Amino acid sequence: MKFRTEGIRFPPIVKLREAARKFVGSPDFLDLGQGLPGHIPPRRPLIAFSERILHPAVHRYTPDQGHIELREELALYLRRTSGVHADPHSEVTITAGANQAFAGTVLTIIGKGDNLIIPSPYYFNSVMAVQLVGGKVVDIPVGSGFQPVFEDIEAAVNKRTRGILLVSPNNPTGAVYNRQLIDQVVDLCMDRDIMLISDETYSQLVYDGSTHYSPRSRKDARDHVVTLGSFSKDFGMSGWRTGYLVGPSLFIEEFMKVQDTVTICAPTPGQFLALEILKTGLDAVESEVKRLGFLRDLAYLRIDQIVALETVRTGGTFYLFPQVKGCTDSRKLVLDILQSTKTLVLPGIIFGDAGEGHIRLSIGPLTTEAIDEAFDRLAKYFNSA
Ligand SMILES: Cc1ncc(COP(=O)(O)O)c(C=O)c1O
Repeated sequence: MKFRTEGIRFPPIVKLREAARKFVGSPDFLDLGQGLPGHIPPRRPLIAFSERILHPAVHRYTPDQGHIELREELALYLRRTSGVHADPHSEVTITAGANQAFAGTVLTIIGKGDNLIIPSPYYFNSVMAVQLVGGKVVDIPVGSGFQPVFEDIEAAVNKRTRGILLVSPNNPTGAVYNRQLIDQVVDLCMDRDIMLISDETYSQLVYDGSTHYSPRSRKDARDHVVTLGSFSKDFGMSGWRTGYLVGPSLFIEEFMKVQDTVTICAPTPGQFLALEILKTGLDAVESEVKRLGFLRDLAYLRIDQIVALETVRTGGTFYLFPQVKGCTDSRKLVLDILQSTKTLVLPGIIFGDAGEGHIRLSIGPLTTEAIDEAFDRLAKYFNSA
């Protein structure tokens, strides 16, 4: 039997985890591969949630668009944190994570032969989603500081372009895109009547004086921007599969066809927990975000001492994306690092050709001691290479 998906590469992290399997479970295995923070959701909302666990509503479908109280609370939160205005009834939808929001957006706007412009290095699931619907990705290598170059994006737009994806703060580079670039892309999307998909999964994880700019905060842009968000990272809720999407009401109406077919609604328990966190857990979330900032400081301090790694310090996320001097096969390098040091990092090539020669280190799940240990091992590995 022939499968439509055969031409699409297998999820790269699943493959790497297979290679790492013999080390996982060993007490000295260090995992810098997982794109996760170490914390779980805050205690107070978890307790409040657990007290509602016998309530039938927690176990049933919510409306397709999501629990209305959550949408209302989220709309207030987005206004406060990102200056985004959205009507919770017609412009907000709760999804099973930002990945489902993105895949659903692609299904809603991209047909066979259409294309989406994506700066590269990119988050690989974005590319896979476009390929799954028979669309084409036009990947545009970023410039210095991992910032996309507007003129390159503009030159790539053609008759079959349906949208442009910006992921800021970025996975894998951590780059927080500058406001001028984002505004130029918004103008371009309005001019060409295409959609800017703004993946803001890491919006709260900004450091070193960087600020997150959400394009939907521009009133005139609202018809041309779809904003994706996630509770996986800052809220520590990746297993609950809860995220959201904000977009113009006409788009949301079309998106509902996908939502109803694929999931009907986002998992209800996750919606209830996210609501509790928005109501009583934001202080705790803020301290976890700060804690991740300290981990970043430590990691950047340590990585600068490894001569073989050239690192650009970016303003967001818990990822470091150093270039390895002389490396032309990051996949091979990562397997060698794993064998030699029992430490898993990700090869830059899985984030597109522009990522080759780099490795991605996620320090999100680590303690300070584990970060020290990881960089001791990496220093030893590269210094003896
Ligand atoms: C840029 C980006 N978007 C979306 C996601 C997926 O988020 P969620 O867990 O909400 O589906 C990730 C996860 O790593 C990501 O890095």
